[in-house]
Amino acid sequence: MANADPAAVIARLRRSPSAKRLIETFGAKVLADENLSCNGILWALEVFQQSPADFYPYNSKYGAWLRRRTELGAAEQRGLALFNETAKGNCAQCHPSAIKRGALSQFTDHGFIAIGVPRNASIPANADPAFHLGLCGPPRTDLSARTECCGLLKTPSLRNVALRGACFHNGVLHRLEDELKF
Ligand code: HEC
Repeated sequence: MANADPAAVIARLRRSPSAKRLIETFGAKVLADENLSCNGILWALEVFQQSPADFYPYNSKYGAWLRRRTELGAAEQRGLALFNETAKGNCAQCHPSAIKRGALSQFTDHGFIAIGVPRNASIPANADPAFHLGLCGPPRTDLSARTECCGLLKTPSLRNVALRGACFHNGVLHRLEDELKF
C-alpha cells in the first residue's frame, strides 16, 4: 500500500503505537530483524482478517436479516425486491445481495465494469475529459495503452455506503444519510 519496500513498512511500524503491541506479542527481537518483523506483521494481519468480530462483523440490520434474526419492514422488503429484481433495479447483478457459499454478501462482484453514467460535474477535476478513465488511467499507468480498459471502474462494496460517503446533488454536497433520510 504505497510503501516502497518491506524496510519502509518496518521503519514506519517502529515509530507507530503498534510497535509496543507487536513486542508484547512476539518479543523484543521482532523489531530487530527484517524477516521477523515482516512475519510478525503478516501474522497479525492474518489473524485480524480472520476474526469476524473485528474484521467483518456484518452487524447491520441486513446482516441480522440474512442470519434470520430479524424481519424487514414492508418498505425495506419493497426496496430489496427492487434492488434484486432483474427487470427493475438489477443492482444485485453487480452488487450481489444474497448469501453465497455460506458467506454473507459483500455487495460487490469485485469486477471492473463500464457503467457509463455521466461524469459528476460537481467534482471540479471532471472538467478535464481525460481525468480518471478508470482502469486505463491516468492515475495508474500500467494499462494506459489498453484503450478497451478506459471507463472500467471497480464495483465498490455497498456495505456502510450511507455512513462512509458523501454525494453531490444539484451541486450541493450532502451526507448520504441526509439525502436518503435514513
Ligand atoms: C453493471 C454493474 C452495476 C450495476 C447493475 C449497478 N452498479 Fe452500482 N456501481 C457499479 C460500479 C462499477 C460502480 C463504481 C462506479 C465509479 O467508480 O464511478 C458502482 C457504484 C455504486 C455506488 C457508489 C458506491 C460508493 O462507494 O460511492 C452506489 C451507491 C451504487 N453503485 C448503487 C447501485 C444501485 C442502487 C444499483 C441498482 C439500481 C446499482 N448500483 C447497479 C456497478 C453496478
